[in-house]
Amino acid sequence: MANEKGNPLTLGKKVRRFMGPLEKPAIRAYRSMFVDTNSLADSIAASSPGNAILEIGAGDGTVSGALLNAIPNAILLGIDIDGDPGAMFKGPTSQATFRIQSAEDLLVALGPAFDLVVISDVLHHVPTPERVALLKTASALVREGGLLAIKETCRRRSFRYLLSVFSDRYISGDRSVSFMSEDELTELINASVDGFEFRARAYIPPSKINVLRMLERQSVAAVIETAIEPLTRDTAIHN
Ligand SMILES: C[S@@+](CC[C@H](N)C(=O)[O-])C[C@H]1O[C@@H](n2cnc3c(N)ncnc32)[C@H](O)[C@@H]1O
Repeated sequence: MANEKGNPLTLGKKVRRFMGPLEKPAIRAYRSMFVDTNSLADSIAASSPGNAILEIGAGDGTVSGALLNAIPNAILLGIDIDGDPGAMFKGPTSQATFRIQSAEDLLVALGPAFDLVVISDVLHHVPTPERVALLKTASALVREGGLLAIKETCRRRSFRYLLSVFSDRYISGDRSVSFMSEDELTELINASVDGFEFRARAYIPPSKINVLRMLERQSVAAVIETAIEPLTRDTAIHN
C-alpha cells in the first residue's frame, strides 16, 4: 500500500486508512495512552500566558486544540515543517491557523511576537546537532515577559517509555527519533535559551516520561541587570 506520492505507508497510516470514520477517535484514544493533552494544556495555562500562542511542530493539532480549550480567548498559530498541520484540530476554527512554515522563517517575518511559544514532543524528532538552533529560534519568538513551554517525552526505565519509542519508530514511522533523559533536556535548555528564567516544571499524566518545562523571558532591563556585576569598592571608577 502506498500514498499519493507512491511512497510506502507507515504501519500507523495503513491502520488509519483501514479505520475510516473511526480514525480520529481511535487516534485520540491511542494518544491518551502516552500523554493527557488536556492536563498538558492546563499545566501550561496555569502560568497565565497571554493570548497570542504559537505551537512549533503542531502536527495533527491535538495539543493546539487542548490549548485553546484551556486558554479560551487566545489565538493560535500552529506551524510544522511537514504533513498536514492541524488535521485533527478540534476547537474554535476562527481562533486557529495552521500552516507549513519553519520557525526560522516565522522569526524573520514576525520577530518576538508571541505571548506563549509551545514546542511539544518535537525535539526527539530533530537531529541532535540541530536542537540548540531550534530552541534558540523558538525562544527568540517569545516577547519580553512571555513564556516558552517545552514538553518532551524523556528517556526513563519504564514500560510506557519503551512503548512510546516503539510507537514513534514503527507506528508513526520516524526511525530516526532519539530521546533525551530529563537531565539531558535540562542541559539542552541551558545551552540554548538565554535571558529566560525557569517558571515551572511538571510531569504530565499518565507518566513521568512526560516532562514539561516553562520558562519566562526576562525584560531587557532585567537581563542587563543580571549580566552586570555590581562594581566593588576596589574597582569603582574615581574621577
Ligand atoms: C510527535 S509530533 C508532535 C505534534 C504535537 N506538537 C503534539 O505534541 O501532539 C512531532 C512534529 O514535529 C514536527 N517537526 C519535526 N521537526 C520540526 C522542526 N524542525 N520544526 C517544526 N516542526 C518539526 C514533525 O513534522 C511532527 O509533526
